[in-house]
Amino acid sequence: MIDSKKELGFFEAVESRRSVRIFDQEEDFDHSVVQRCLEAAILSPNSSNLQLYEFIRVPESSHFKDQIAQLCMRQKAAVTARELVVVVTRRDLWKSRAEANYNYIKTTVQNQSEKKQKQALSYYGNLIPKLYSRYPGWTLIKKLIAWWVGLRRPMVREVSETDVRISVHKSAALASMTFMLGMKASGYDTCPMEGYDSKRISKLLNLSKGSEICMIIGCGKGLPEGVYGERFRIASKKLIYDV
Ligand SMILES: Cc1cc2nc3c(=O)[nH]c(=O)nc-3n(C[C@H](O)[C@H](O)[C@H](O)COP(=O)(O)O)c2cc1C
Repeated sequence: MIDSKKELGFFEAVESRRSVRIFDQEEDFDHSVVQRCLEAAILSPNSSNLQLYEFIRVPESSHFKDQIAQLCMRQKAAVTARELVVVVTRRDLWKSRAEANYNYIKTTVQNQSEKKQKQALSYYGNLIPKLYSRYPGWTLIKKLIAWWVGLRRPMVREVSETDVRISVHKSAALASMTFMLGMKASGYDTCPMEGYDSKRISKLLNLSKGSEICMIIGCGKGLPEGVYGERFRIASKKLIYDV
């Protein structure tokens, strides 16, 4: 069992985390740690606080586990995982999530000026529906509006359907990262995967039409041979710039 007193600090977790492809089959795996780390993951920043994602837990006891591992192209990180977490985007839930934020602000947020509250309500009541609604030709209209407004003042240009999808995936990926660091801090390892047959897995899990799989994360206690080589990174001076 994992000893919570031995949790790693932030930089220890970041610096020691590796993508591990072979997980220990012998040692006990504490599935409650996955739950705890997912609860931490949903505290991650996310676009407009719409939280358009779900995490589907597939423990080794689930009859889906082997089938999903096969559909992850039989990657060892999936086959040997003690639990898989399927990170699913739910762009389709925008209306109910916007409503939840709207109602929260309307009924709960009291310590804001009236003007601020009005702005927040307008954000969820007007702007989000404009960005997330889907009608034929709507992307073109949004792009034209962004272009027109942008001639006069700074304007967000990412208004197309592809931009919305990217935004939803960004939030799901940030939550995934929090999850993986939480697992490392708790003494476990992970491997994020995008090598899978999304169509078959979506069908198997009966995912709704508006869902997409962002990534699948294999979890367990990593074996040393599950780390494929030293970590390589491009020199930071080529990646980090001052202007
Ligand atoms: C979105 C994403 C998808 C990935 N897909 C796979 C995958 O399908 N199989 C795999 O073995 N590793 C996968 N990886 C892990 C990367 O190969 C790994 O993070 C990278 O090589 C750096 O190694 P490190 O995580 O050990 O630092 C993926 C990572 C990310 C972020």
